[in-house]
Amino acid sequence: MKLLITGATGLIGKKITENLLETGFQIHYLTTGKSKTNILQGATGFYWNPEQNQIDLKCFYGVDTIIHLAGSTVSKRWTKSYKEKIYSSRINSSKLLLKGIEDLNGEHQIKHLVSASAIGVYPSDFNDYFDEEAEVSRTTFMERVVIDWENETDSFSSEGISIAKLRIGLVLSESGGVLGTLKLPTYFGLGAAFGSGKQGQSWIHMNDLVGIFLKAVEDQWEGVFNAVAPNPVTQSEFIASLSRALKRPYFLPPIPAFLIRIGAGEMSDLVLDSHWISSQKVIDKGYSFQYTDIQKALDDLIK
Ligand SMILES: NC(=O)c1ccc[n+]([C@@H]2O[C@H](COP(=O)([O-])OP(=O)(O)OC[C@H]3O[C@@H](n4cnc5c(N)ncnc54)[C@H](OP(=O)(O)O)[C@@H]3O)[C@@H](O)[C@H]2O)c1
Repeated sequence: MKLLITGATGLIGKKITENLLETGFQIHYLTTGKSKTNILQGATGFYWNPEQNQIDLKCFYGVDTIIHLAGSTVSKRWTKSYKEKIYSSRINSSKLLLKGIEDLNGEHQIKHLVSASAIGVYPSDFNDYFDEEAEVSRTTFMERVVIDWENETDSFSSEGISIAKLRIGLVLSESGGVLGTLKLPTYFGLGAAFGSGKQGQSWIHMNDLVGIFLKAVEDQWEGVFNAVAPNPVTQSEFIASLSRALKRPYFLPPIPAFLIRIGAGEMSDLVLDSHWISSQKVIDKGYSFQYTDIQKALDDLIK
């Protein structure tokens, strides 16, 4: 089986690619970096440029399934122009991918698309759990990005392709992401929650995220799925667990929300919003989580 992966050079993409290659899949990937077309050993890279509508159609040859992860990082200051980039990198890359397939005039064998999405689509809520049936609305910037991105993904059905959208939570990985940012201050005893510290953090260990992508591909999942671990925690519990994993004290009070808003502007939504998200649908599909306890997940990644 041959897969095409976009965003394969990123935090999640690298791990998925490694894993799929080990499992025996053949991998093509699309990258916006001309110098990155041969950096993933065992996989074949192709250049694309969604801003300029350039794509190497050879990337589709022999491909059965696409994993679509491409998008500019959201962890960079949300200036007006950078917000446009967060939005357009997801929308334009989805549009170009579909246009590329359309240009093959039916001469392809792609049957399935598994696309990244994000739990940022759900409204921030400090009390209620949300599952995939929850109503969503285009109120905040992140909600607008994710809803439009998911709608764009749905367009692939016009080519007879079935679609799975994985709404990813806070990914815990040993190499970068949120742990890369929080590890150092917490190591020096400067770990602190943000705002009330009572925000729900729907995390997932990288191994489980990769496992869910793999199962979604192998079992040809269709529809929307939350890719989060079964036991979300408050942000204070998260920082306390991280401090324990690092064997460091945790004593600082939370940083007041207004200070974070002054410092980070609208981007502070990323740390002040609360998401208690259900993983029941993924469990019902037969996925068995390796990490359901935040302390065990962090101990594993910090070791
Ligand atoms: N990490 C998380 O906690 C998390 C949570 C929820 C959702 N997600 C979503 O999952 C996806 C992958 O996340 P990640 O953490 O692996 O992200 P990442 O490390 O930032 O990697 C994203 C990849 O997207 C590609 N990319 C960047 N800008 C692009 C553009 N303008 N046009 C096309 N491609 C572009 C890059 O690949 P090239 O340089 O090779 O082109 C990059 O390696 C993202 O869409 C993200 O929003 C992640």
